[in-house]
Amino acid sequence: MTENGQNRGYIARDRDRQPDAYTPGYKTSVKRSPQAALLSFPTTLSEETSPVFGHGLIGKLDNDLIHNYAKPGESAIGPRIIVYGRLLDETGRGVPGALLEFWQANAGGRYRHKKEGYIAPLDPNFGGCGRLITGEDGSYEFRTIQPGPYPWPNGPNEWRPAHIHFSVFGHGFAQRLITQMYFEGDPLIPLCPIVGVLKSQQAIDDLTAPLDMNRTLPMDARAYKFDIVLRGRRQTYFENRREGL
Ligand SMILES: [Fe+2]
Repeated sequence: MTENGQNRGYIARDRDRQPDAYTPGYKTSVKRSPQAALLSFPTTLSEETSPVFGHGLIGKLDNDLIHNYAKPGESAIGPRIIVYGRLLDETGRGVPGALLEFWQANAGGRYRHKKEGYIAPLDPNFGGCGRLITGEDGSYEFRTIQPGPYPWPNGPNEWRPAHIHFSVFGHGFAQRLITQMYFEGDPLIPLCPIVGVLKSQQAIDDLTAPLDMNRTLPMDARAYKFDIVLRGRRQTYFENRREGL
């Protein structure tokens, strides 16, 4: 591949960098992991190119979880934050025009979902999901409240660190990657069995967004920076496709 006449070379997928599918410490992986050798299905033109999402479908408040579910004049309860960063390819170039979706628990650690059973209350002004399209340089930004940690039935007393789920769509719906972002300084990160499937501290650090005081809004919101890398040495860990795109 060339850009501006330079040969950037080809960076192959590295499946070994990603966690193993079978990781008994994360109990659900026992049933979810493949029991037989993988089969490869060739994709066809329709899976590679369509269907596509309509950019015009993005609403004005879709990137503002503080307000996109709130009654007029009200807002979600919780520490107000900005999450921002860039979607990058393997050479560090920004990926424009990608649909980014994100979902999270509320400030008490509870999801708005019919199967959610945690005793923390719902916030009537917080839905918990949003979306946006990355800009020309692959950049993105959205506003939300910092989610709370929550317990989950993996063992006798397991708690998820505060996190935000991310989905990235490519040019067709068959191209989808899913990952999670954690928050710098959260003491639950090293205790979490899901984080524990990552193979290195670097991989954990890559999923942990640092506080960025330069991007905070004084008297309003703190800022956390999270870049998503599709392939290469800095590739983000994706749950559904270990090798990335
Ligand atoms: Fe979650």
